[in-house]
Amino acid sequence: MSAVVLRNLRCLESPKALNALSSALFVELNEALKECEEDSEIGAIVLTGSDKAFAAGADIKEMASLTFAEAYSKNFIASWSFMSSLRTPVIAAVSGHALGGGCELAMMCDIIYATKTANFGQPEIKLGTIPGAGGSQRLTKAIGKSKAMELILTGNNYSGEQAEKDGLVAKAVEGGNKEVVDQALATAAKIASYSRVAVVAAKEVVNKSQDLGIREGVEYERRIFHALFGSQDQKIGMKAFAEKKKAEWSHS
Ligand code: CAA
Repeated sequence: MSAVVLRNLRCLESPKALNALSSALFVELNEALKECEEDSEIGAIVLTGSDKAFAAGADIKEMASLTFAEAYSKNFIASWSFMSSLRTPVIAAVSGHALGGGCELAMMCDIIYATKTANFGQPEIKLGTIPGAGGSQRLTKAIGKSKAMELILTGNNYSGEQAEKDGLVAKAVEGGNKEVVDQALATAAKIASYSRVAVVAAKEVVNKSQDLGIREGVEYERRIFHALFGSQDQKIGMKAFAEKKKAEWSHS
């Protein structure tokens, strides 16, 4: 299996608007993600923008005149959550601005890599609103209540270097978009080289830790661990270890 990069999708190619996240963009992003998810040759996805911007947030011009009734009855931006239903691991490779919905989109991915100079933030407070795509929840889980509260209430930005120190970002790299994509692709290729069944299970149990208490979470993990004894790849992996051979995964 291989890794694939989703870079500046057609709708994301609006560099003047710094990849503002419009409804049309999400239709296209979700279609691309669905195609990747259904392609059994794709074992991991890298999502990136450009040197200037991963994404500068929800399209402010598109939503400025929205009424409460429209937002509520049409469940505005609910479709953004499609990303978090994927089984294929997604790595966000962030360079430039990742603000508001852009930061939230990165946080919906499974792993975030960023350039040291990337510019993260939840500036919604400056627009008279709040994060609406999970920012208050995911940022708080990632860096703790006090730091998340400070960032969300002040709208202050923070660098990729700081985000790595705080644990939001797994790796902060020197350089620009090319360098961060290279690192993300290397990790994506490594993930894609493992058993698909084991990777999906590993992603599932880590994600469960976000929803469950420790006792239920550990029990949940153990059940999935038990279930993997029913997979071909557990037999293949352990036999290969004993025989000092490279495992040839069946992905079943
Ligand atoms: N929506 C719509 N257009 C945007 C945009 C956005 N989120 N961000 C930037 N743009 C547009 C600008 O209006 C500008 O367009 P024009 O050339 O037509 O004037 C163009 O992109 C370039 O932007 P700037 O001239 O401002 O570029 P800059 O380099 O001086 O500043 C920036 C870059 C710091 C990212 C600044 O554009 C900015 O602060 N953008 C808004 C960021 C923001 O507030 N994001 C949160 C949105 S709300 C949200 O996301 C809600 C949610 O939780 C879902």
